[in-house]
Amino acid sequence: MTLGHDTHGANPDDVRPVPRIAIQAFCETADVAQLLEATAEDRRMSRAHLKIQMGGLPAAVEFYASAPTPNLVLVESRGRAEDILSQLDGLADVCDPGTKVMVIGHVNDVVLYRDLVRRGVSEYIVMPLNMFDVVRAIGELYEHASTPLGRTVAVLGAKGGTGSSTVAHNVAWAVGRQFANDVMIADFDLAWGTAGLDFNQDPTQGMLEALNSPERLDEVFLDRLLTKCSDRLSILAAPALLDRTYDQRENDYDTIVEVARSIVPLVILDLPHQWTSWVRRQTCEADDVFLVATPDLASLRNARALVDALKGARPNDAPPHLVLNTVGMPKRPEIKPEEFAKALELETHVTIPFDAVAFGNAANKGLMIGELDAKHAANEAFTRLAMVATGRKEIRKGKRGAFDIAPLLAKLGVVKAS
Ligand SMILES: Nc1ncnc2c1ncn2[C@@H]1O[C@H](COP(=O)(O)OP(=O)(O)O)[C@@H](O)[C@H]1O
Ligand SMILES: [Mg+2]
Repeated sequence: MTLGHDTHGANPDDVRPVPRIAIQAFCETADVAQLLEATAEDRRMSRAHLKIQMGGLPAAVEFYASAPTPNLVLVESRGRAEDILSQLDGLADVCDPGTKVMVIGHVNDVVLYRDLVRRGVSEYIVMPLNMFDVVRAIGELYEHASTPLGRTVAVLGAKGGTGSSTVAHNVAWAVGRQFANDVMIADFDLAWGTAGLDFNQDPTQGMLEALNSPERLDEVFLDRLLTKCSDRLSILAAPALLDRTYDQRENDYDTIVEVARSIVPLVILDLPHQWTSWVRRQTCEADDVFLVATPDLASLRNARALVDALKGARPNDAPPHLVLNTVGMPKRPEIKPEEFAKALELETHVTIPFDAVAFGNAANKGLMIGELDAKHAANEAFTRLAMVATGRKEIRKGKRGAFDIAPLLAKLGVVKAS
């Protein structure tokens, strides 16, 4: 009898690299801890971050009561079926949406397996396992997913110069720093993009090379075009050269975004202030839209038009998240943030104060606000937006079976993987 997936004796040649995900493991036995340590060393795991600790399910439940959950939680259990199931319910209560859970067990028990599936566990694998079995099981969770690994967030300014790129970069940084989540910034402002500058990098390749080689564009190629800014954050940089013009067609970026979201859990689209067919397409297709506006009439008019256009184009999605930037600029007459949001019929908004010194210094030094001044008021806004960006809108929902079970259902043939 084989339960879950027949991972035993996986052929190393069939094992695919694991994407840039954060994995945390809670082991009960030294055997499994050693197995996972060896797994973490494998080259197929080089993009992923695997942290290993002891304590099994109870330690996981306790740990995540006060910490955000990573993309994948791996738990070993030697317990009886009832104990495993009740502890998993406890874990579901503290899991963020989108987090997957995989259980490493010691008994081949079909009833337990079914109950685990019903609880939303993505995979149950049974010892003894070798390193390739584990790498393959993790890789397959993402390969067979009916939804792509990565979320996309489009960041668009209501006018030019509202600070939309500044917001995109600081939010991405906060995601990498505070949620230990891997994130990519895709700079779509080919002629003038500042992602490289803002992170004090001097990229020699990036978005343009990806655009120029659609036939070569796969995970490995895109990975090579990225500029790593930190352990968690990478950018697909704009050339920012004027030796040619940049006239993209509506679908030119589709594959780039698709491949990007298959290797990184979050892709932030730093869009220029334009309304071309491709900007509209990328904005409409994104999981979330951040609309960055300054508190003035032109921004309000444009924001209104954008909110309406998006409502028409994506009636089943949440409206954009309004970010009011440079609020409180001395001597400038401003529309109050609450009135601005009300005029757009938006229930929530985030405000970022005007601070010429902090933002000017950050930009000139190639630093993020959080690096320059961890106590700056703007950081709170960036953290809130980072939470939305990673899909943690309502943290700690306390809902049972909150794990992402789509991949498993697809594998079982209950729903079709798309
Ligand atoms: N809250 C703020 N206070 C002061 N200056 C800001 C603020 N936000 C952004 N800036 C500055 O505004 C300028 C334009 O920002 P940028 O992000 O390039 O705008 P956009 O991408 O919308 O064109 C930059 O010099 C940036 O440092
Ligand atoms: Mg910009």
